[in-house]
Amino acid sequence: MALKPVTSPDVEAPTIQLTVDGQQVEAKQGVSLYDVISQTGKIIPAMCYHYTFDPFGSCGMCLVMVEGKKAPVRSCTAKAEAGMVVRCEGEDLFLARKKAVEKHLTIHPLDCPVCDADGHCELQDMAFQHGVTNLVNAKPKGLPEDRRSLVLDFNMNRCILCGECINICKDVQMVDALQFFKKEGTTHVVAKGDEGLVCEFCGDCLAVCPVGAITNKYSKYVYKPWQLKKTTSTCAYCADGCQMFIETSGKGVQRVTSPLSWKNKWGDRAETAEGHGGLCVRGRFGFQYIDSKERLGAPLVRTEEGFAPRSWFEVMDTVVGRLKALKAQHGPNAIAGLITARCTNEELYLFQKLMRAAIGTNQVDSSARYGHLNFTRALQHAAGVGRMMNGYEQITKANVLLLIGTDITETNPIASLRVKEAIRVYGAQVIVATSRLTNIAKLASHPLPIAAGSERWFIQALVKAAVEEDLVDEAATTAAPEAFAALKAALAGLSWEVLTARTGTSREVVIEAVRLYAEAPKAVILCAEGVTRQVEGYASVLNLVDLAWVTGKLTRPGCGVNALPEEANEQGAVDMGVASELLPGQALYGDEDGRAKFATAWCCSLPPPDPSATLMEILKRCREGGIKALYLVGENPLATLPASTGVREALEKVELLVCQDPFLTETGRLAHVVLPATTFAEKDGTFTNLEGKVNRVRPALEPYEEARPDWEIFAALGTGLGYPMEYEAAQDVQREIMKLLPGYYNLGEPRPVTAQPEGYLRNGYVREVAARYAAGAEADGARPFTLTIGQVLYHSGKLSTRASGLVQLYPSKGRLQMNPEDLAQLQIGPQDVVRVTSAEGALELRTEPNHDLARGTCFFPEHYNEPPIKDLAECVVDPTTGVPAFKFARVAITRV
Ligand code: SF4
Ligand code: SF4
Ligand code: SF4
Ligand code: FES
Repeated sequence: MALKPVTSPDVEAPTIQLTVDGQQVEAKQGVSLYDVISQTGKIIPAMCYHYTFDPFGSCGMCLVMVEGKKAPVRSCTAKAEAGMVVRCEGEDLFLARKKAVEKHLTIHPLDCPVCDADGHCELQDMAFQHGVTNLVNAKPKGLPEDRRSLVLDFNMNRCILCGECINICKDVQMVDALQFFKKEGTTHVVAKGDEGLVCEFCGDCLAVCPVGAITNKYSKYVYKPWQLKKTTSTCAYCADGCQMFIETSGKGVQRVTSPLSWKNKWGDRAETAEGHGGLCVRGRFGFQYIDSKERLGAPLVRTEEGFAPRSWFEVMDTVVGRLKALKAQHGPNAIAGLITARCTNEELYLFQKLMRAAIGTNQVDSSARYGHLNFTRALQHAAGVGRMMNGYEQITKANVLLLIGTDITETNPIASLRVKEAIRVYGAQVIVATSRLTNIAKLASHPLPIAAGSERWFIQALVKAAVEEDLVDEAATTAAPEAFAALKAALAGLSWEVLTARTGTSREVVIEAVRLYAEAPKAVILCAEGVTRQVEGYASVLNLVDLAWVTGKLTRPGCGVNALPEEANEQGAVDMGVASELLPGQALYGDEDGRAKFATAWCCSLPPPDPSATLMEILKRCREGGIKALYLVGENPLATLPASTGVREALEKVELLVCQDPFLTETGRLAHVVLPATTFAEKDGTFTNLEGKVNRVRPALEPYEEARPDWEIFAALGTGLGYPMEYEAAQDVQREIMKLLPGYYNLGEPRPVTAQPEGYLRNGYVREVAARYAAGAEADGARPFTLTIGQVLYHSGKLSTRASGLVQLYPSKGRLQMNPEDLAQLQIGPQDVVRVTSAEGALELRTEPNHDLARGTCFFPEHYNEPPIKDLAECVVDPTTGVPAFKFARVAITRV
């Protein structure tokens, strides 16, 4: 695929010299003249140009004079040429631009007082800048507003036909949902097909519209931009770490915008390799939970009549008293704690410190245990660093991207834009091994259908093909001959017959994919839930490391193995040591020196290692009566884990269940004490994104009623328990982290492996490798369908189901999505009720056809618990990492 024209940053073109307003400038030949001018620091008017997509040249504002041309030229679409002499200022240019403004204004209504863009409108600015004060021939179009779409309204009276909305949707999002359309004697922007918009609702079109032609239904006519307080923060939904502006008034959050909404047209196209400054639907339209009426406003204590509100003083006294008594009677290991990875780094750090130093137990875990720890533990084991090896820029500039077990546009939508830019701007080859035709598979050069849940065998097949086809890197493999021999022996025991039967693909297809990967100078692997949350997730990540190692990609710049975490701060939870096997900084808890360092810093003796005290083991100990008190922070295991795990029994068995959360959750209803916590929008702190970048979280609002930030509650509890944790602000915690983990906040980028992992390949590799390439048991033939329970774009865990904006876009439908051909074969209609039976139970559900699903698979979104689909899944715990895999089930489907 050819590189895009003019603004493409890596275009191989000679460097040329030209003159801009008398100044000598260097540029690449052929890039947009507008970009060259903006490099000099000059900002010339522009309304249809934006550096994130290709120039369109419709508004007529960016006019400049080029020596030798009689008329002004549009600098956005003009290409820089050697020797050009360009003039950007002058009376003639001013008048030409003024004429363009007047032309737009003659058909634009002057309804500024009732327009949401008033005060943040480029046409207004241009009119002001050019002194357009009187329009004698104004002929507004008088069109009715187009309100057919969810979230967005289109007011074509205000449209200046700049095309920015269409272009960003086509070029950056690669969704291409909008078009110009002639009707009613004029040109409109409409959704394709002139119907209600069906798209990803990222809101980028809204963000770039220079006027108020696209408006946000969720916050229409309720503010003027200058009346809102704008707080820069980081999105709390997923790990992409998008920067956002939470815009609030006295009435709470009015809207969420991002750097893309605040016109930076003169940016450098090359910068988009690190992000385009936009948000996804969750970040932009999923803010309503922050000031929801369902928020917990006061601490609650269970009484015989139900929950009763109590003062903080009383409730803390109760919790501290009960914890002290239980510890005195049964020892510190009668207490355990679990925390969500949506908390800030400072809170995660303080939580594990509270559990270890103040309480004296190592029974501590976070929601990173649901999958990301499979990745970080494997990478740490193999390469010494448990984090992604590549950042956004390296993903964007990879020659080959290998995506396995990830529906990236749904789970990490902004990270997926890097893959899209890799495809569109940099011409990357993208292999997507997937059981459903995902959005990214539709755009990929090599969509590669595999059977649902077969990712681990597909990875094994890739490694086998790499070795058998001699696609190995000699230097990498000869440096570790014993390890390579052991790997070859393990692979020899795997038959292609089994691998192709399990994956549903052929040997030839696997060879083609691995050849593409192995021969690329810069090849990046991205995996996610289909690997890390799957059975043998830890082993599968190590197998991906094998693939990178044998093909020489482990240490090569621009290459690497990466897993996308789901929640906002899973990487932070691992880095802050919220896992029984880890200390802050990913030091092993079992390491005596590491423990001694923290024991000294925290002035305490630390509990002995207990690496098996992970989530599922903690719940088991609760059931067995060893753990008497469970402290849950933002975690809702009852709504997350299948019933077969005995989660309810565990929660009902403990003598003290404390739930700290912004909402009263399913688990909270079982609690003895409920503590109201704030959301991220009322907190100070940081999140670590998937790249390893530490981003600031800032409070946009005062805490809701009596809710408090989690870190404050931990500090009060620790101090109450007799271990002083006297922090005045989140920055005090930060200072402590900075001392113990120097450089953490400056990390700024992932740490690629730069040297062969010799220790890993020498020590134990030979012993471990055979088990990682065993085919394992065959699927249950009596249950021919694979049920996948997974994430959809519009939601993130359960939190988003509290955001009315997202619920409106994706309500609980309770439908089982199936391939239409499967439905036809079973003689089941699209709305019929079916009985879904797994080894764990049965449920009756209505069906919904989904053409993107492969035959033999069905899908149900994981966010809603009615009907309780998760209870059909079996839970398999990873023997090394304790990660529970419960997103797949073999099921039989029969008509009712
Ligand atoms: S919301 Fe996003 S996906 Fe939908 S039309 Fe606008 S830019 Fe395109
Ligand atoms: S709706 Fe806005 S962004 Fe789209 S063409 Fe019209 S003015 Fe431009
Ligand atoms: S949910 Fe993820 S991708 Fe969407 S805005 Fe938030 S951080 Fe960005
Ligand atoms: S024509 Fe160049 S910015 Fe609009």
